[in-house]
Amino acid sequence: MTGTPRILVVDDEIRMCDSVRILLGEHNYRIETCPSARDAVAWLENNRCDLMLLDLMMPEMDGFDLLDFVKDRYPDVTVIMMTGHASIESAVEALKRGAYDYLGKPFEHDELVKRVENALDQKRLRAERDSFRNRLAVTEERYRHLVHHSPDIIFTLGERGEFLFVNDTVESLLGYESASLRGKAFSTIVHEEDADKVRAFFEAAAKGRPLSDCMEVRLCCRTRPAAGDGICVVELRASAMEEFSEESGGKIRGIYGIARDITERKRAEEERKLLEAQLRQAQKMEAIGTLAGGIAHDFNNLLMAIQGNASLMLFDLSPKHEHYERLRNIEKLVDSGSRLTAQLLGYARKGRYEVRPIDLNQTVQDACETFSRTRKEIRVQLRLDRNLAPIEADAGQVEQVLMNLLVNAADAMRGGGTVTLRTANTTHEQMKGKLYNPRPGKYVLLSVSDTGVGMDEKTKERIFEPFFTTKEMGRGTGLGLASTYGIIKGHGGFIDVESEPGRGATFSIYLPASSKKISKPHRGQEGIVRGQGTVLLVDDEDMVLEIGRALLETMGYQVVTAKDGEEAIRLYESRGSAIDLVLLDVVMPGLGGGEVFDRLKSINPDMKCLLLSGYSIDGEATEIIQRGCDGFIQKPFKLRDLSKSIREILHQPG
Ligand SMILES: Nc1ncnc2c1ncn2[C@@H]1O[C@H](COP(=O)(O)OP(=O)(O)OP(=O)(O)O)[C@@H](O)[C@H]1O
Ligand SMILES: [Mg+2]
Repeated sequence: MTGTPRILVVDDEIRMCDSVRILLGEHNYRIETCPSARDAVAWLENNRCDLMLLDLMMPEMDGFDLLDFVKDRYPDVTVIMMTGHASIESAVEALKRGAYDYLGKPFEHDELVKRVENALDQKRLRAERDSFRNRLAVTEERYRHLVHHSPDIIFTLGERGEFLFVNDTVESLLGYESASLRGKAFSTIVHEEDADKVRAFFEAAAKGRPLSDCMEVRLCCRTRPAAGDGICVVELRASAMEEFSEESGGKIRGIYGIARDITERKRAEEERKLLEAQLRQAQKMEAIGTLAGGIAHDFNNLLMAIQGNASLMLFDLSPKHEHYERLRNIEKLVDSGSRLTAQLLGYARKGRYEVRPIDLNQTVQDACETFSRTRKEIRVQLRLDRNLAPIEADAGQVEQVLMNLLVNAADAMRGGGTVTLRTANTTHEQMKGKLYNPRPGKYVLLSVSDTGVGMDEKTKERIFEPFFTTKEMGRGTGLGLASTYGIIKGHGGFIDVESEPGRGATFSIYLPASSKKISKPHRGQEGIVRGQGTVLLVDDEDMVLEIGRALLETMGYQVVTAKDGEEAIRLYESRGSAIDLVLLDVVMPGLGGGEVFDRLKSINPDMKCLLLSGYSIDGEATEIIQRGCDGFIQKPFKLRDLSKSIREILHQPG
């Protein structure tokens, strides 16, 4: 109702209409009049009014009929009935039918004004109330929407911890219907192990702890049982609450709370932690690898000198001599020592010298033959694929891998048992679902299974770590599987293990298949071969130079030595024509073997060169050989190995 109130007076007595107009005239109203109910109906079709003063008794259509019509069509219009025949019945009837008030004719001026003012005031108040209600309904709807569409569970709890309210998010997140939770304890949805800490949390909140404090809690989740443990991790916040209760008509105290789903965040955090741990582990292995490689390199030089001295003493000693066997023993011990350094080099991935296409089946058969001779209590069973693809590998290292696995299998079968070796062609497709990510292509699978004691999870996790062993002192160094792992990685392959306590173990190795043809290593003749000519020996270790010179001279060669690459180049420039063979160390400070080789080769393209090293840096020796170097020999070497290698180079046909 805005502006000047409009009042319609309906009375068949024109005098009445006029006197009402006069009586209300001095007030701020717009007065309209109609002489009959029919006229009023017609007037209402095009006009609006706030209040009607209706005469009860009118011809044709009386006041009641018009009242009914108005209440039906224009419920907002307030009606006051007027009649000269005031009776209680008609007054009650009019009020029942929706009239606001009743005036008996004749009425006083004051009374009319009071009743009209009153009616209009009431009408204005009603309109204001309706407008408030509407606005309230809109804001309530807005808040309802916000609460029920919140990604967080929002709830209130009563004094006993029972749900008073919980939003619909509890359904989408946990699978509980919100209505079904009302009246139930909050603990209904809490993981039982967290129930106590939640109770303590709410108690502290009730005593005034702020909403900003939060706690991680596990809630029971009905919607995600397939995703694992049926648990939803939430960040819970709570504060004290006071609410008006319609039921009790008084205030109730309780808890207002929010639970935010952080399951995904926790999972991502855990994944990140795992990745960090893996990275740390990888860095640790890398660092130990570098250390192991360095030790092996220096150790090989020492072994080389011991070996050289023993070889020299044996060279012209009769087998009948009393020291002969002792010297042979020294040689054997050096062999054991160099097997240890070979393991270390395998782990450090620095021992690949001779990569060529080989037949894995052949290597397996050879290794098993050697193994069977020493461990008679173990039955060895072969299941080899006759059409196995070749692999490109260092046969010596693959043999080392096989020996490590066979010895471990035998150690796991103290009372005897069977070890089964299988080979098969496979592809990266069949390796899916493993932890590693193989490059697409063909692979060769080698598996070694035993019927031994097996391993538990904890052991399995650590077996590839260097120096991890469950064997007693003196029985195992814990290097077997570490070097196996390093060698397989170094060959672009993968290794994994399946085992359970008491149920044996199966190691599976995948190596990339090769399309090259298998090549056989050329075997030189045994025994020491004397020779002639001048050899330039280049090594940064005095010990190696000294013993190398002695060995070479024993074989009949003249020897020139250089302590580093620069000296070697200077010597070769001045005396190159007199030098028949260069014996070149691969790893040296300053100019490395590879660079020295290239420089010497540019001085004399026909230069003959034999590489020697305690290790090669990931195939550096192989690369130099590919650039035209004539051969490679690994420290420590025996007199006969050296003589054989030199002979092969200097007496090559062509
Ligand atoms: N086939 C197997 N069955 C049961 N346990 C095994 C098997 N192979 C390895 N293991 C476990 O893994 C550990 C590590 O093996 P690894 O070959 O690296 O070292 P080692 O055999 O203890 O010592 P090393 O090989 O240096 O002499 C072993 O001590 C053993 O506990
Ligand atoms: Mg072992």
